[in-house]
Amino acid sequence: MTTTSLITFLLILTLSLSTLPIPSFSQLCNPQDKQALLQIKNQLGNPTQLASWNPSTDCCNTTWQGVSCDTDTKTYRINDLSLSNLNLPKLYPIPPSLGNLPFLEILDISNILNLVGPIPLAITNLTKLRYLYITQTNISGSIPEFISRIQTLVTIDFSYNKLSGELPSSLSLLPNLVGITLNDNSFSGPIPESYGSFSNLFTSITLERNQLSGNIPATLAKLNLAFVDLSSNRLEGDASVFFGSEKNTQKIILAKNKLAFDLGKVELSSNLNTLDIRNNYVYGKLPEGLTALKYLHKLNVSYNNLCGEIPQGGNMQRFDVYSYQHNKCLCGSPLPSCKT
Ligand SMILES: *[C@@H]1O[C@H](CO)[C@@H](O)[C@H](O)[C@H]1NC(C)=O
Ligand SMILES: *[C@@H]1O[C@H](CO)[C@@H](O)[C@H](O)[C@H]1NC(C)=O
Ligand SMILES: *[C@@H]1O[C@H](CO)[C@@H](O)[C@H](O)[C@H]1NC(C)=O
Ligand SMILES: *[C@@H]1O[C@H](CO)[C@@H](O)[C@H](O)[C@H]1NC(C)=O
Repeated sequence: MTTTSLITFLLILTLSLSTLPIPSFSQLCNPQDKQALLQIKNQLGNPTQLASWNPSTDCCNTTWQGVSCDTDTKTYRINDLSLSNLNLPKLYPIPPSLGNLPFLEILDISNILNLVGPIPLAITNLTKLRYLYITQTNISGSIPEFISRIQTLVTIDFSYNKLSGELPSSLSLLPNLVGITLNDNSFSGPIPESYGSFSNLFTSITLERNQLSGNIPATLAKLNLAFVDLSSNRLEGDASVFFGSEKNTQKIILAKNKLAFDLGKVELSSNLNTLDIRNNYVYGKLPEGLTALKYLHKLNVSYNNLCGEIPQGGNMQRFDVYSYQHNKCLCGSPLPSCKT
């Protein structure tokens, strides 16, 4: 190449580059991701809250509400999407085009009352998804078995929806799962036995205000839960599986069920700060170990069949009669003293 032809070549190159639309060079957003977002917006009836999703701007610019791109690895694929507080013009299903955002790690759909219908198969396309939140919507149907195909899931929160049916036993196939939050739905049937084989990192199970029934599986004794809330269901029988001095348990909330087991026989985690078993058929004595719990600040054992003297000392004097009332024969401060 001669010098002249090189200069001519460079000149032509510069001219042709400058005539190309600049935005396509300056946008960090992946074009497929952007197209998927615009489809999602359309599938939700173009709500005014998503006006910032403007096709002529860069979707990785923070002006796109609820959208985050992966700046760490500099791939700029959308890895975090939050669709929250949207007023949809009419009823819509969860947008199937979410399945076209394959790099999502966090999907948070919350407080969208006009969102209805089932959890769509399209989300199995999200093979990097770690945190899945679908809360405060009117979605219904059961939790599909296909959820367990998203092997990367760490937490699932489907609280405050209209979901129903039995809890899928296949959730125990998720190797990285550490917590499930399914409170305030209409789930029924038993807690699956397979939940005893959640990984040893599994720490939180929140199922309150559903219609779960039957016995709590003995297999759950293997878990080391930090938080368990099963209140306001129809669970029966033994719940001593959640107790144990070798566990790191902080909160045990089992209120308003039909549970019946000997509380005098359980051993307590030294980290326990909340024990609420009100309104059950729990019998036996209060464990003496309650007085040794440094962090105990919430205790309610009222409306059970407990008996014997209330252990004195430690944090026990914090609690008044309302924590102990309506048992078979509990006695001692703050209740009337035991007859000798
Ligand atoms: C984001 O968009 C605004 C408005 O279009 C623009 O002024 C700003 O420079 C953009 N920021 C980035 C980081 O691209
Ligand atoms: C799943 O992803 C593939 C490839 O990214 C895409 O072609 C397909 O339409 C997606 N399926 C659904 C149901 O979103
Ligand atoms: C959705 O849920 C809200 C709150 O639970 C309720 O007031 C509303 O009527 C529901 N809408 C539909 C369409 O079901
Ligand atoms: C304990 O539970 C009973 C029965 O539901 C309730 O009336 C009482 O207020 C509760 N006590 C405390 C201290 O929360």
